[in-house]
Amino acid sequence: MNLPYAEPFRIKMVEEIRQSTRAERESWLQKANYNLFNLKSSQVFIDLLTDSGTGAMSDQQWGALMTGDESYAGSRSFEALHDTVKNITGYQYLLPTHQGRAAENVLFSVLVKDGDIVPGNSHFDTTKGHIEIRKAHAVDCTIDEAFDVENLHPFKGNIDLQKLEDVYKTYPKEKIPFCLITITCNSSGGQPVSIENIRAVKELSDRYGIPIYFDSARFAENAYFIKQREKGQENRTIKEIAKEVFSYGAGMTMSSKKDGLVNIGGFIALNDENIYRAASNFTIIYEGFITYGGMAGRDMAALAVGLTEATEFPYLESRISQVEYLGNKLIEYGIPVQKPIGGHAVFIDSLKFLPQVARAEFPAQTLANEIYLEAGIRTVEIGTLLADRDPDTRENRYPKLELVRLAIPRRTYTNNHMDYIAAAVKNVYERRNEITKGYSIMWEPDILRHFTVQLGKA
Ligand SMILES: Cc1ncc(COP(=O)(O)O)c(C=O)c1O
Repeated sequence: MNLPYAEPFRIKMVEEIRQSTRAERESWLQKANYNLFNLKSSQVFIDLLTDSGTGAMSDQQWGALMTGDESYAGSRSFEALHDTVKNITGYQYLLPTHQGRAAENVLFSVLVKDGDIVPGNSHFDTTKGHIEIRKAHAVDCTIDEAFDVENLHPFKGNIDLQKLEDVYKTYPKEKIPFCLITITCNSSGGQPVSIENIRAVKELSDRYGIPIYFDSARFAENAYFIKQREKGQENRTIKEIAKEVFSYGAGMTMSSKKDGLVNIGGFIALNDENIYRAASNFTIIYEGFITYGGMAGRDMAALAVGLTEATEFPYLESRISQVEYLGNKLIEYGIPVQKPIGGHAVFIDSLKFLPQVARAEFPAQTLANEIYLEAGIRTVEIGTLLADRDPDTRENRYPKLELVRLAIPRRTYTNNHMDYIAAAVKNVYERRNEITKGYSIMWEPDILRHFTVQLGKA
Protein backbone atom coordinates (compact mmCIF):
# COMPACT_ATOMS: atom_id res chain seq x y z
CA MET A 1 0.00 0.00 0.00
CA ASN A 2 1.27 3.46 -0.85
CA LEU A 3 1.78 5.52 2.26
CA PRO A 4 -0.35 8.68 2.34
CA TYR A 5 1.21 12.07 3.01
CA ALA A 6 1.45 13.05 6.66
CA GLU A 7 2.35 16.35 8.25
CA PRO A 8 6.13 16.68 8.71
CA PHE A 9 5.57 18.13 12.20
CA ARG A 10 3.84 17.31 15.46
CA ILE A 11 1.86 19.69 17.67
CA LYS A 12 3.57 21.24 20.69
CA MET A 13 1.06 23.83 21.81
CA VAL A 14 -2.69 24.23 21.27
CA GLU A 15 -5.14 27.14 21.39
CA GLU A 16 -8.72 26.59 22.48
CA ILE A 17 -11.55 27.52 20.11
CA ARG A 18 -15.20 27.63 21.11
CA GLN A 19 -18.37 26.63 19.29
CA SER A 20 -21.44 28.92 19.56
CA THR A 21 -25.20 28.57 19.11
CA ARG A 22 -27.09 29.60 15.99
CA ALA A 23 -28.99 32.25 18.01
CA GLU A 24 -25.69 33.77 19.18
CA ARG A 25 -24.35 33.83 15.64
CA GLU A 26 -27.50 35.48 14.26
CA SER A 27 -27.23 38.30 16.77
CA TRP A 28 -23.46 38.73 16.27
CA LEU A 29 -23.80 38.82 12.50
CA GLN A 30 -26.51 41.45 12.66
CA LYS A 31 -24.35 43.58 15.00
CA ALA A 32 -21.47 43.13 12.53
CA ASN A 33 -23.67 44.70 9.81
CA TYR A 34 -23.53 41.38 7.96
CA ASN A 35 -19.83 41.95 7.25
CA LEU A 36 -17.75 39.02 8.51
CA PHE A 37 -14.70 41.28 8.91
CA ASN A 38 -16.56 42.95 11.78
CA LEU A 39 -16.91 39.76 13.85
CA LYS A 40 -14.73 39.21 16.91
CA SER A 41 -12.50 36.17 16.64
CA SER A 42 -14.18 34.79 19.78
CA GLN A 43 -17.41 34.66 17.76
CA VAL A 44 -15.76 32.36 15.19
CA PHE A 45 -15.17 28.62 15.58
CA ILE A 46 -13.05 27.94 12.49
CA ASP A 47 -11.51 30.99 10.88
CA LEU A 48 -11.00 30.71 7.14
CA LEU A 49 -11.15 34.46 6.51
CA THR A 50 -7.58 34.41 5.32
CA ASP A 51 -4.38 32.41 5.21
CA SER A 52 -2.53 35.67 5.80
CA GLY A 53 -0.66 35.91 9.08
CA THR A 54 -2.83 33.20 10.60
CA GLY A 55 -0.43 30.25 10.40
CA ALA A 56 1.48 28.51 13.17
CA MET A 57 5.18 29.15 13.60
CA SER A 58 7.61 26.28 14.22
CA ASP A 59 9.70 25.75 17.36
CA GLN A 60 12.71 26.90 15.31
CA GLN A 61 10.94 30.17 14.54
CA TRP A 62 9.92 30.70 18.17
CA GLY A 63 13.54 30.02 19.08
CA ALA A 64 14.71 32.58 16.51
CA LEU A 65 12.41 35.18 18.08
CA MET A 66 14.54 35.04 21.22
CA THR A 67 17.70 35.76 19.25
CA GLY A 68 16.24 38.79 17.43
CA ASP A 69 18.55 41.81 17.35
CA GLU A 70 16.54 44.97 17.96
CA SER A 71 19.24 47.44 16.85
CA TYR A 72 17.74 50.35 14.96
CA ALA A 73 20.38 50.12 12.20
CA GLY A 74 22.32 47.17 10.82
CA SER A 75 20.80 44.49 13.05
CA ARG A 76 21.98 40.86 12.83
CA SER A 77 18.39 39.81 12.17
CA PHE A 78 18.30 42.04 9.09
CA GLU A 79 21.53 40.40 7.92
CA ALA A 80 20.06 36.93 8.45
CA LEU A 81 16.94 37.89 6.52
CA HIS A 82 18.95 39.56 3.77
CA ASP A 83 21.10 36.41 3.31
CA THR A 84 18.03 34.17 3.18
CA VAL A 85 16.20 36.41 0.70
CA LYS A 86 19.30 36.64 -1.51
CA ASN A 87 19.66 32.85 -1.43
CA ILE A 88 16.06 32.18 -2.31
CA THR A 89 15.41 34.96 -4.82
CA GLY A 90 18.81 35.98 -6.15
CA TYR A 91 17.89 39.67 -5.63
CA GLN A 92 20.64 41.84 -4.15
CA TYR A 93 18.73 44.54 -2.31
CA LEU A 94 16.23 44.06 0.49
CA LEU A 95 13.85 46.55 2.07
CA PRO A 96 11.72 45.14 4.89
CA THR A 97 8.21 46.53 5.33
CA HIS A 98 5.53 45.87 7.90
CA GLN A 99 3.43 43.82 5.44
CA GLY A 100 2.81 43.20 1.75
CA ARG A 101 0.71 46.25 1.00
CA ALA A 102 3.38 48.44 2.55
CA ALA A 103 5.88 46.93 0.12
CA GLU A 104 3.45 47.87 -2.67
CA ASN A 105 3.12 51.38 -1.31
CA VAL A 106 6.88 51.90 -1.17
CA LEU A 107 7.70 50.34 -4.55
CA PHE A 108 4.76 51.90 -6.39
CA SER A 109 5.66 55.31 -4.93
CA VAL A 110 8.79 55.00 -7.05
CA LEU A 111 7.42 53.28 -10.12
CA VAL A 112 3.73 54.14 -10.67
CA LYS A 113 2.50 57.56 -11.86
CA ASP A 114 -0.82 59.19 -12.74
CA GLY A 115 -2.18 57.67 -15.96
CA ASP A 116 0.10 54.62 -15.97
CA ILE A 117 -1.04 51.15 -17.01
CA VAL A 118 0.02 48.10 -14.99
CA PRO A 119 -0.82 44.85 -16.78
CA GLY A 120 -0.69 41.50 -14.99
CA ASN A 121 -2.71 38.48 -13.92
CA SER A 122 -5.69 39.42 -11.71
CA HIS A 123 -4.10 41.95 -9.35
CA PHE A 124 -4.76 41.48 -5.66
CA ASP A 125 -7.14 44.04 -4.13
CA THR A 126 -4.57 46.06 -2.16
CA THR A 127 -2.27 45.97 -5.18
CA LYS A 128 -5.02 47.33 -7.38
CA GLY A 129 -5.82 49.85 -4.65
CA HIS A 130 -2.22 51.09 -4.63
CA ILE A 131 -2.31 51.41 -8.41
CA GLU A 132 -5.68 53.16 -8.57
CA ILE A 133 -4.97 55.54 -5.70
CA ARG A 134 -2.15 56.86 -7.92
CA LYS A 135 -4.73 57.34 -10.72
CA ALA A 136 -3.13 54.53 -12.70
CA HIS A 137 -4.94 51.48 -14.09
CA ALA A 138 -4.47 47.76 -13.51
CA VAL A 139 -5.23 45.69 -16.63
CA ASP A 140 -6.10 42.04 -16.05
CA CYS A 141 -4.46 39.85 -18.71
CA THR A 142 -5.24 36.47 -17.11
CA ILE A 143 -6.06 33.61 -19.51
CA ASP A 144 -9.79 33.12 -20.16
CA GLU A 145 -9.68 29.56 -18.78
CA ALA A 146 -9.27 31.06 -15.30
CA PHE A 147 -12.85 32.34 -15.42
CA ASP A 148 -14.37 28.93 -16.14
CA VAL A 149 -14.49 27.17 -12.77
CA GLU A 150 -14.86 23.73 -14.39
CA ASN A 151 -11.86 24.09 -16.68
CA LEU A 152 -9.04 21.87 -15.43
CA HIS A 153 -6.19 23.96 -16.87
CA PRO A 154 -3.24 23.27 -14.52
CA PHE A 155 -1.99 26.87 -14.55
CA LYS A 156 -5.01 29.14 -14.39
CA GLY A 157 -2.89 31.99 -13.07
CA ASN A 158 -1.14 32.26 -16.45
CA ILE A 159 -1.01 35.49 -18.39
CA ASP A 160 -2.58 35.56 -21.85
CA LEU A 161 0.28 36.67 -24.07
CA GLN A 162 -2.05 38.16 -26.67
CA LYS A 163 -3.86 40.28 -24.08
CA LEU A 164 -0.51 41.41 -22.71
CA GLU A 165 0.84 42.26 -26.13
CA ASP A 166 -2.32 44.24 -26.89
CA VAL A 167 -1.57 46.38 -23.82
CA TYR A 168 2.06 46.78 -24.90
CA LYS A 169 0.91 47.84 -28.40
CA THR A 170 -1.86 50.16 -27.21
CA TYR A 171 0.12 52.26 -24.72
CA PRO A 172 3.53 53.87 -25.03
CA LYS A 173 6.33 52.19 -23.14
CA GLU A 174 6.69 55.18 -20.78
CA LYS A 175 3.11 54.58 -19.56
CA ILE A 176 3.79 50.95 -18.58
CA PRO A 177 6.18 50.89 -15.61
CA PHE A 178 6.11 47.10 -15.31
CA CYS A 179 4.11 43.92 -15.76
CA LEU A 180 3.08 42.40 -12.43
CA ILE A 181 2.89 38.61 -12.10
CA THR A 182 1.16 37.41 -8.95
CA ILE A 183 2.36 33.96 -7.84
CA THR A 184 0.09 32.16 -7.06
CA CYS A 185 -2.76 34.30 -8.31
CA ASN A 186 -4.94 34.91 -5.25
CA SER A 187 -7.73 36.80 -7.03
CA SER A 188 -8.25 34.08 -9.62
CA GLY A 189 -8.40 31.35 -6.99
CA GLY A 190 -4.91 30.66 -5.68
CA GLN A 191 -4.07 29.35 -9.14
CA PRO A 192 -0.44 28.91 -10.17
CA VAL A 193 1.53 30.43 -13.02
CA SER A 194 3.71 28.04 -15.03
CA ILE A 195 7.41 28.58 -15.49
CA GLU A 196 6.84 28.31 -19.22
CA ASN A 197 4.38 31.20 -19.07
CA ILE A 198 6.73 33.29 -16.95
CA ARG A 199 9.53 32.69 -19.46
CA ALA A 200 7.22 33.69 -22.32
CA VAL A 201 6.03 36.83 -20.51
CA LYS A 202 9.65 37.74 -19.91
CA GLU A 203 10.53 37.23 -23.57
CA LEU A 204 7.57 39.33 -24.75
CA SER A 205 8.17 42.06 -22.16
CA ASP A 206 11.85 42.26 -23.10
CA ARG A 207 10.84 42.94 -26.68
CA TYR A 208 8.85 45.96 -25.50
CA GLY A 209 11.40 47.00 -22.88
CA ILE A 210 9.00 46.46 -19.95
CA PRO A 211 10.35 44.95 -16.70
CA ILE A 212 8.56 42.26 -14.71
CA TYR A 213 7.89 42.38 -10.99
CA PHE A 214 6.45 39.58 -8.91
CA ASP A 215 3.78 39.84 -6.27
CA SER A 216 5.26 36.87 -4.46
CA ALA A 217 3.09 36.22 -1.39
CA ARG A 218 2.71 32.53 -2.29
CA PHE A 219 5.80 31.98 -4.42
CA ALA A 220 6.69 28.69 -2.68
CA GLU A 221 3.21 27.24 -3.28
CA ASN A 222 3.55 28.34 -6.91
CA ALA A 223 6.90 26.54 -7.16
CA TYR A 224 5.29 23.40 -5.69
CA PHE A 225 2.66 23.39 -8.44
CA ILE A 226 5.36 23.90 -11.08
CA LYS A 227 7.22 20.89 -9.68
CA GLN A 228 4.06 18.76 -9.54
CA ARG A 229 2.44 19.76 -12.80
CA GLU A 230 5.03 20.96 -15.28
CA LYS A 231 6.97 18.59 -17.48
CA GLY A 232 10.69 18.59 -16.84
CA GLN A 233 10.36 20.27 -13.42
CA GLU A 234 9.66 17.16 -11.32
CA ASN A 235 13.24 16.52 -10.25
CA ARG A 236 14.09 20.08 -9.28
CA THR A 237 13.91 21.37 -5.74
CA ILE A 238 11.43 24.05 -4.73
CA LYS A 239 14.33 26.43 -4.11
CA GLU A 240 15.76 25.82 -7.60
CA ILE A 241 12.41 26.49 -9.23
CA ALA A 242 11.77 29.62 -7.16
CA LYS A 243 15.19 30.99 -8.01
CA GLU A 244 14.65 30.52 -11.72
CA VAL A 245 11.23 32.20 -11.51
CA PHE A 246 12.68 35.22 -9.71
CA SER A 247 15.53 35.44 -12.23
CA TYR A 248 13.00 36.69 -14.81
CA GLY A 249 11.97 39.65 -12.67
CA ALA A 250 13.49 43.00 -11.82
CA GLY A 251 12.19 42.56 -8.30
CA MET A 252 9.36 41.50 -6.05
CA THR A 253 7.01 42.59 -3.35
CA MET A 254 6.29 40.10 -0.61
CA SER A 255 3.63 39.63 1.99
CA SER A 256 5.58 37.48 4.46
CA LYS A 257 2.32 36.56 6.18
CA LYS A 258 1.80 33.80 3.64
CA ASP A 259 4.85 31.87 2.44
CA GLY A 260 7.08 33.60 4.98
CA LEU A 261 5.25 31.57 7.65
CA VAL A 262 5.11 34.52 10.03
CA ASN A 263 2.22 36.49 11.48
CA ILE A 264 3.32 39.90 10.23
CA GLY A 265 5.88 41.30 7.81
CA GLY A 266 6.72 41.99 4.21
CA PHE A 267 9.55 43.14 2.01
CA ILE A 268 10.74 44.38 -1.35
CA ALA A 269 13.69 42.67 -3.02
CA LEU A 270 15.24 43.94 -6.22
CA ASN A 271 18.42 44.34 -8.26
CA ASP A 272 18.37 47.90 -9.60
CA GLU A 273 20.42 50.18 -7.37
CA ASN A 274 18.66 53.39 -8.42
CA ILE A 275 15.22 51.98 -7.72
CA TYR A 276 16.52 50.62 -4.42
CA ARG A 277 17.80 54.07 -3.44
CA ALA A 278 14.54 55.78 -4.37
CA ALA A 279 12.53 53.10 -2.56
CA SER A 280 14.79 53.48 0.49
CA ASN A 281 13.57 57.06 0.88
CA PHE A 282 9.95 55.99 0.83
CA THR A 283 10.74 53.15 3.24
CA ILE A 284 12.17 55.64 5.70
CA ILE A 285 9.15 57.95 5.37
CA TYR A 286 6.45 55.27 5.53
CA GLU A 287 7.96 52.28 7.32
CA GLY A 288 11.17 52.88 9.26
CA PHE A 289 14.91 52.71 8.73
CA ILE A 290 15.98 50.55 5.78
CA THR A 291 17.26 47.69 7.94
CA TYR A 292 13.97 47.13 9.73
CA GLY A 293 11.19 48.87 7.74
CA GLY A 294 8.44 48.43 10.29
CA MET A 295 9.50 44.99 11.52
CA ALA A 296 10.91 44.10 14.90
CA GLY A 297 14.34 42.43 14.76
CA ARG A 298 12.79 39.29 16.25
CA ASP A 299 10.16 39.18 13.50
CA MET A 300 12.88 39.40 10.83
CA ALA A 301 14.70 36.54 12.56
CA ALA A 302 11.58 34.37 12.55
CA LEU A 303 10.92 35.29 8.92
CA ALA A 304 14.39 34.18 7.84
CA VAL A 305 13.64 30.73 9.31
CA GLY A 306 10.08 30.72 7.93
CA LEU A 307 11.18 31.38 4.35
CA THR A 308 13.55 28.43 4.56
CA GLU A 309 10.87 26.12 5.99
CA ALA A 310 8.25 27.24 3.46
CA THR A 311 10.48 26.25 0.56
CA GLU A 312 10.85 22.65 1.73
CA PHE A 313 8.92 20.01 -0.19
CA PRO A 314 7.43 17.92 2.68
CA TYR A 315 5.93 21.03 4.26
CA LEU A 316 4.44 22.17 0.95
CA GLU A 317 3.12 18.71 0.17
CA SER A 318 1.20 18.49 3.45
CA ARG A 319 0.00 22.09 3.18
CA ILE A 320 -1.36 21.85 -0.33
CA SER A 321 -2.69 18.31 0.16
CA GLN A 322 -4.80 19.53 3.09
CA VAL A 323 -6.39 22.20 0.93
CA GLU A 324 -7.00 19.57 -1.74
CA TYR A 325 -8.51 17.23 0.87
CA LEU A 326 -11.14 19.82 1.74
CA GLY A 327 -11.75 20.62 -1.94
CA ASN A 328 -12.26 16.95 -2.81
CA LYS A 329 -14.71 16.48 0.09
CA LEU A 330 -16.77 19.40 -1.20
CA ILE A 331 -16.68 18.00 -4.73
CA GLU A 332 -17.83 14.62 -3.33
CA TYR A 333 -20.84 16.42 -1.77
CA GLY A 334 -21.71 18.02 -5.12
CA ILE A 335 -20.70 21.56 -4.11
CA PRO A 336 -19.66 23.72 -7.11
CA VAL A 337 -16.04 24.62 -6.42
CA GLN A 338 -13.36 26.08 -8.60
CA LYS A 339 -11.19 23.39 -10.18
CA PRO A 340 -8.42 22.49 -9.95
CA ILE A 341 -8.28 23.26 -6.23
CA GLY A 342 -5.99 26.24 -5.55
CA GLY A 343 -2.94 26.33 -3.33
CA HIS A 344 -4.12 28.20 -0.26
CA ALA A 345 -7.88 28.03 -0.46
CA VAL A 346 -10.97 26.36 -1.83
CA PHE A 347 -13.29 28.66 -3.76
CA ILE A 348 -17.03 28.00 -3.94
CA ASP A 349 -18.86 29.23 -7.02
CA SER A 350 -21.79 31.10 -5.53
CA LEU A 351 -23.39 31.83 -8.90
CA LYS A 352 -23.96 28.08 -9.23
CA PHE A 353 -24.68 27.56 -5.52
CA LEU A 354 -27.21 30.40 -5.23
CA PRO A 355 -28.28 31.28 -8.79
CA GLN A 356 -31.52 32.75 -7.46
CA VAL A 357 -29.78 35.55 -5.53
CA ALA A 358 -29.44 38.68 -7.72
CA ARG A 359 -25.90 39.88 -8.54
CA ALA A 360 -26.80 43.27 -7.06
CA GLU A 361 -27.54 41.48 -3.75
CA PHE A 362 -24.04 39.96 -3.48
CA PRO A 363 -24.56 36.18 -3.77
CA ALA A 364 -21.03 35.32 -2.57
CA GLN A 365 -21.42 37.47 0.55
CA THR A 366 -24.84 35.90 1.09
CA LEU A 367 -23.32 32.42 0.96
CA ALA A 368 -20.41 33.35 3.22
CA ASN A 369 -22.90 34.64 5.81
CA GLU A 370 -24.97 31.45 5.57
CA ILE A 371 -21.87 29.30 6.19
CA TYR A 372 -21.13 31.37 9.27
CA LEU A 373 -24.70 31.05 10.54
CA GLU A 374 -24.63 27.29 9.94
CA ALA A 375 -21.46 26.42 11.83
CA GLY A 376 -19.45 29.42 13.02
CA ILE A 377 -17.04 29.19 10.08
CA ARG A 378 -15.77 32.54 8.81
CA THR A 379 -14.96 32.71 5.09
CA VAL A 380 -14.62 35.66 2.75
CA GLU A 381 -16.38 37.04 -0.32
CA ILE A 382 -14.29 37.29 -3.49
CA GLY A 383 -16.94 38.88 -5.66
CA THR A 384 -18.68 42.17 -6.34
CA LEU A 385 -17.99 43.69 -2.93
CA LEU A 386 -14.29 43.02 -3.35
CA ALA A 387 -14.27 44.14 -6.99
CA ASP A 388 -15.48 47.52 -5.72
CA ARG A 389 -16.71 50.36 -7.93
CA ASP A 390 -15.13 51.56 -11.14
CA PRO A 391 -12.96 54.53 -10.09
CA ASP A 392 -14.24 56.63 -13.02
CA THR A 393 -17.95 55.73 -13.28
CA ARG A 394 -18.47 54.71 -9.60
CA GLU A 395 -20.67 51.86 -10.86
CA ASN A 396 -20.41 48.40 -9.28
CA ARG A 397 -17.87 46.25 -11.12
CA TYR A 398 -19.33 42.79 -11.61
CA PRO A 399 -16.47 40.29 -11.86
CA LYS A 400 -16.79 37.16 -13.98
CA LEU A 401 -16.91 35.03 -10.85
CA GLU A 402 -18.63 35.40 -7.48
CA LEU A 403 -16.59 33.22 -5.16
CA VAL A 404 -16.55 32.37 -1.48
CA ARG A 405 -12.99 31.72 -0.40
CA LEU A 406 -12.22 29.17 2.28
CA ALA A 407 -8.61 30.09 2.99
CA ILE A 408 -6.71 27.51 5.02
CA PRO A 409 -4.18 28.86 7.54
CA ARG A 410 -0.80 27.09 7.40
CA ARG A 411 -0.06 24.33 9.96
CA THR A 412 -3.13 25.39 11.99
CA TYR A 413 -6.13 23.09 11.56
CA THR A 414 -6.43 19.30 11.32
CA ASN A 415 -8.28 17.25 8.75
CA ASN A 416 -11.08 16.79 11.31
CA HIS A 417 -11.63 20.52 10.97
CA MET A 418 -11.73 20.03 7.20
CA ASP A 419 -14.43 17.35 7.63
CA TYR A 420 -16.45 19.69 9.85
CA ILE A 421 -16.20 22.51 7.31
CA ALA A 422 -17.26 20.23 4.45
CA ALA A 423 -20.28 18.97 6.44
CA ALA A 424 -21.33 22.54 7.24
CA VAL A 425 -21.19 23.61 3.59
CA LYS A 426 -23.13 20.49 2.61
CA ASN A 427 -25.88 21.43 5.08
CA VAL A 428 -26.16 24.90 3.53
CA TYR A 429 -26.20 23.32 0.06
CA GLU A 430 -29.10 21.09 1.05
CA ARG A 431 -31.20 24.11 2.09
CA ARG A 432 -29.95 26.38 -0.70
CA ASN A 433 -33.40 26.85 -2.29
CA GLU A 434 -34.62 28.57 0.88
CA ILE A 435 -31.99 31.31 0.44
CA THR A 436 -33.55 33.75 -2.01
CA LYS A 437 -32.54 37.21 -0.79
CA GLY A 438 -29.12 38.74 -0.33
CA TYR A 439 -27.93 42.08 1.03
CA SER A 440 -27.82 45.73 0.10
CA ILE A 441 -25.23 48.34 1.00
CA MET A 442 -26.08 50.70 3.88
CA TRP A 443 -22.67 52.44 3.96
CA GLU A 444 -19.38 52.02 2.14
CA PRO A 445 -15.99 53.77 2.05
CA ASP A 446 -14.48 55.27 -1.13
CA ILE A 447 -11.96 52.48 -1.68
CA LEU A 448 -11.40 48.85 -0.57
CA ARG A 449 -14.99 48.76 0.58
CA HIS A 450 -15.24 45.06 1.45
CA PHE A 451 -13.24 45.49 4.67
CA THR A 452 -15.63 47.96 6.29
CA VAL A 453 -18.83 47.97 4.21
CA GLN A 454 -22.06 47.86 6.22
CA LEU A 455 -24.86 45.73 4.82
CA GLY A 456 -28.54 45.24 5.51
CA LYS A 457 -30.88 42.45 4.46
CA ALA A 458 -32.18 43.13 0.92
C1 LIG B 1 -1.31 38.23 -3.73
C2 LIG B 1 -1.27 39.20 -2.59
N1 LIG B 1 -0.57 40.34 -2.69
C3 LIG B 1 -0.51 41.23 -1.68
C4 LIG B 1 -1.17 41.02 -0.51
C5 LIG B 1 -1.10 42.07 0.57
O1 LIG B 1 -0.33 41.63 1.63
P1 LIG B 1 -0.58 42.08 3.14
O2 LIG B 1 -1.90 41.52 3.56
O3 LIG B 1 0.57 41.49 3.88
O4 LIG B 1 -0.58 43.56 3.18
C6 LIG B 1 -1.91 39.86 -0.35
C7 LIG B 1 -2.64 39.61 0.91
O5 LIG B 1 -3.48 38.77 1.03
C8 LIG B 1 -1.97 38.92 -1.41
O6 LIG B 1 -2.67 37.78 -1.34
